[in-house]
Amino acid sequence: MTLRAVVKGVGHYLPERVVPNAEFEKTLDTNDEWIRARSGIERRHFAAEGETTSYMATAAAQAALTQAGLAVDDLDAIIVATSTADLTFPSAATMVQAELGMTHGFAFDVQAVCAGFVFALSNANAMILSGQAKRVMVIGAETFSRIMDWTDRSTCVLFGDGAGAVLLEAQEGHGTSDDRGILSTDLNSDGRHKDLLYVDGGVSTGTTGYLRMQGNQVFRHAVEKLAATATTALERAGVTAKDVDWVVPHQANIRIIQGTAKKLGLPMENVVVTVQDHGNTSAASIPLALSVGHARGQIKEGDLLVTEAIGGGLAWGAVVLRW
Ligand code: UT7
Repeated sequence: MTLRAVVKGVGHYLPERVVPNAEFEKTLDTNDEWIRARSGIERRHFAAEGETTSYMATAAAQAALTQAGLAVDDLDAIIVATSTADLTFPSAATMVQAELGMTHGFAFDVQAVCAGFVFALSNANAMILSGQAKRVMVIGAETFSRIMDWTDRSTCVLFGDGAGAVLLEAQEGHGTSDDRGILSTDLNSDGRHKDLLYVDGGVSTGTTGYLRMQGNQVFRHAVEKLAATATTALERAGVTAKDVDWVVPHQANIRIIQGTAKKLGLPMENVVVTVQDHGNTSAASIPLALSVGHARGQIKEGDLLVTEAIGGGLAWGAVVLRW
């Protein structure tokens, strides 16, 4: 018997305020057509005042618990993937723990920017396989609207806020690729590219700072690295791209999503796409896509999924799992 980290529940939360592309035309030299054509984004959600990352993360976790038919007492750990925690510390995860009323176990954040959820899933998987936890709530939650420079048209039209959560549970499998649960992971980073995507604030500046991105440079790395990490993870899982039911990619740009699917040899019919409605929600984008894809009836029990993401660092990775 082989231990597997199996998805028991999934949920998400999106702020009420939806901002269409046209809204940016009022203040910036941009237009709906450019944003759609270059990124595939049509609208995004922005958090209201007081609607924090931990608030949205808690709501997503509650939805995942409800879907799983489990209670807070059933959890051993909470991992929040975020680059926009409410405060420098404590972690957003401990805030979620408090909000959920969980007084046992442990909680911590993972910070790998847009690749954060893949890194968090991999961490949760390792904890489950090593026996440190039986049930882990893995959340991706971000309020990137709070680190936007609203005068920079090359970044502020691309990002959005939201949260998604996946509840993983230890279950016995047979050690084959037919098992439900996480089948393989692949994580990478290369700090030489740290200046391509960063926030120009933090404890060293005494400010929160704003997101700065050389978008076309990140783009150049994205398709190649995403296809490579997905291929590595598929090989490790003992499956091929042909076996994949759903690619659930980080939702940054429809052209990156299409380019990666093409490199993997998969048609867009096998890709869960939410970028048009959410924009780039960084670490929240994959769990949001998993939850929306499940709610749409696309992702079903037994389906083989590959998730892949890249972001600041650069950091990138992939996870292969059977739903
Ligand atoms: O999630 C973390 C990882 N991040 C990503 O994956 C993002 C990766 N990058 C991208 O998605 C794309 O590079 C962007 C969507 C950011 C930009 O698309 P692009 O095709 O790479 O355009 P570009 O940056 O090369 O800019 C093309 C032109 C420039 O004008 P010039 O220099 O050619 O005259 C920009 O100034 O588009 C201009 N531009 C805009 N025009 C209208 C940049 N932003 C805007 C805008 N509206 N909002």
